[in-house]
Amino acid sequence: MKRLVKVTVNEKPMEGEAEPRLLLVHFIRDVLGLTGTHIGCDTGHCGACTILMNDVSVKSCMLLAVQAEGQSLTTVEGLAKDGKLHPIQDAFWEHHGLQCGYCTPGMLLSAVFLLDRNPNPTEEEIRKGIAGNLCRCTGYVNIVKAIKAAAEKMSGEEGAKTTSSKG
Ligand code: FES
Ligand code: FES
Repeated sequence: MKRLVKVTVNEKPMEGEAEPRLLLVHFIRDVLGLTGTHIGCDTGHCGACTILMNDVSVKSCMLLAVQAEGQSLTTVEGLAKDGKLHPIQDAFWEHHGLQCGYCTPGMLLSAVFLLDRNPNPTEEEIRKGIAGNLCRCTGYVNIVKAIKAAAEKMSGEEGAKTTSSKG
């Protein structure tokens, strides 16, 4: 029997009906209509379905929709704000961090999670941070470059904010 699942997605309340066995990734894509989150395997290996749940990265094919009841989700559609790309999106664009783009939504969310916990990661830490996200096109070099560049830009912006608030 279907039940109503209420979630907050990208800061907006949303709801939809889900069978108890419906995977969260299918709920996001097919019920809520947010198709930016991709499905590459359905078995927890590829990371294409990565989203944030309560600011923690999760593979949405590894959760049931009903487990997200009352939780706050961030999908790739929530990264840009006020018509401006997130610095990580900008950096992927500038440093050619994608080719076909299939892995990109999950890769971006993993990068957001990584930089949130570690604003100045080493190359090794970046590679570890995206270890759960497979890319079949890029060889990862430009993805790592993009995440490094985003980290530098974001800590520069933070620094500027702190300096200006100190006035
Ligand atoms: S679709 Fe979820 S890890 Fe591949
Ligand atoms: S850009 Fe094609 S899978 Fe990563």
